[in-house]
Amino acid sequence: MELVGEKVRQVMSWVVISTVLTVAIVPSCPVTEAKKCSFPAIFNFGDSNSDTGGLSAAFGQVPTPNGITFFHTPAGRYSDGRLIIDFLAQNLGLPYLSAYLESVGSNFSNGANFATAGSTIRPQNKTLSQSGYSPISLDVQLVEYSDFKAKSILIRKKGGVFKKLLPKEEYFSKALYTFDIGHNDITAGYNLDMTTEQVKAYIPNVLDQFSNVIRSVYKEGGRSFWIHNVGPIGCLAYMLDRYPVSAAETDNFGCAKPFNEVSQYFNHNLNETIVQLREELPKATIIYVDVYTVKYNLISNAQKYGFDENSVVACCGDGGKYNFNNHARCGATKIVNGEKIVIAKSCKDPSVKIIWDGIHFTEAANEWIFEQIANGEFSDPPISLKSTSLKIACRGNVSSYHY
Ligand SMILES: *[C@@H]1O[C@H](CO)[C@@H](O)[C@H](O)[C@H]1NC(C)=O
Ligand SMILES: *[C@@H]1O[C@H](CO)[C@@H](O)[C@H](O)[C@H]1NC(C)=O
Ligand SMILES: *[C@@H]1O[C@H](CO)[C@@H](O)[C@H](O)[C@H]1NC(C)=O
Ligand SMILES: *[C@@H]1O[C@H](CO)[C@@H](O)[C@H](O)[C@H]1NC(C)=O
Repeated sequence: MELVGEKVRQVMSWVVISTVLTVAIVPSCPVTEAKKCSFPAIFNFGDSNSDTGGLSAAFGQVPTPNGITFFHTPAGRYSDGRLIIDFLAQNLGLPYLSAYLESVGSNFSNGANFATAGSTIRPQNKTLSQSGYSPISLDVQLVEYSDFKAKSILIRKKGGVFKKLLPKEEYFSKALYTFDIGHNDITAGYNLDMTTEQVKAYIPNVLDQFSNVIRSVYKEGGRSFWIHNVGPIGCLAYMLDRYPVSAAETDNFGCAKPFNEVSQYFNHNLNETIVQLREELPKATIIYVDVYTVKYNLISNAQKYGFDENSVVACCGDGGKYNFNNHARCGATKIVNGEKIVIAKSCKDPSVKIIWDGIHFTEAANEWIFEQIANGEFSDPPISLKSTSLKIACRGNVSSYHY
């Protein structure tokens, strides 16, 4: 995944997590209080699955045709349109999150997004141009968050425009903290030619580092955590094209079973990690969201849900079995007669495709996935985003809230 110069923009990314809890009696919140009880802000940590402009701000804008469906221009997102985090913000009645690194035109009143495409949980030992992974790993995102929090509180006191651009101090404890990261930690091992056993062997260490970040946010006052697990990476052309597996290791939908098993292994460990964190951080509500199952369900029942049957074939690309070429990813250009033309183009109708560019999902798929996870059916504890917001933000005193 050597991404140099222009290719740097084509970095991949992602992740999320979750867990199950027994919900004890929760102080209920009258419906009329709904507005007062909802999350006033979101702070997001992650990779390209939830990057709304972080990597673009520092390393160059994502190329066209990213953004064509909704923003009608590249918008820092690796998709034709909106991401799950956009639908989540919208659902909570909040504006789309500004990337923390975007210094122009950002409004952080209702939160900030620290995710960057290509981010891992563990810092990598190679630079972005060597490995393609973002240097803004989760530990760095935590530093940015702490700095953002401290400075916001200080600078907002100056009043004027600062009051209109930064979150209120109390928002830091009332906010929803969302995480979608880990995919790149898995792929990084394969990039270093490790075997599946070797990749699995370092996952506990990755999750230890993840735990440290959750603990730190808790220490800063964060109480409500919404953690996506990792998706089925074996269904992504990015893996299928680069690390072909035998027919026996391929499922009925074209996904590589060994890679999906690694995702499941990661998710199993993530759940255990979260179970432990809940014990350790009694005032936190930590929700594990099983995005893996939702994504795999979509890929394996594409037609049933109105999508094209070749579910693992990308919409945007330069041809090939999966319409994916790692050396000419979505938006790749070529000079023809002195003119730059896009050779890795969008398909005609992204709204019927699940996979956008061989790594990321289309807006249509992201919206479908969001609708599945919003109602709590795939969450542990099984509470919907809306009622989570009521329960968590309304409870006032969290000390009586146990799982
Ligand atoms: C997480 O682990 C706990 C304890 O082992 C288990 O009861 C629960 O069902 C698991 N949740 C998920 C979503 O796998
Ligand atoms: C980076 O190198 C150090 C020292 O060799 C090693 O302990 C660590 O696991 C490496 N990190 C990754 C992500 O490979
Ligand atoms: C930023 O957004 C908030 C609400 O989301 C709004 O009240 C505020 O006026 C905006 N700031 C500016 C400078 O437009
Ligand atoms: C919650 O309870 C703790 C200890 O019981 C108390 O110190 C704190 O002030 C309470 N917070 C609220 C918001 O009621």
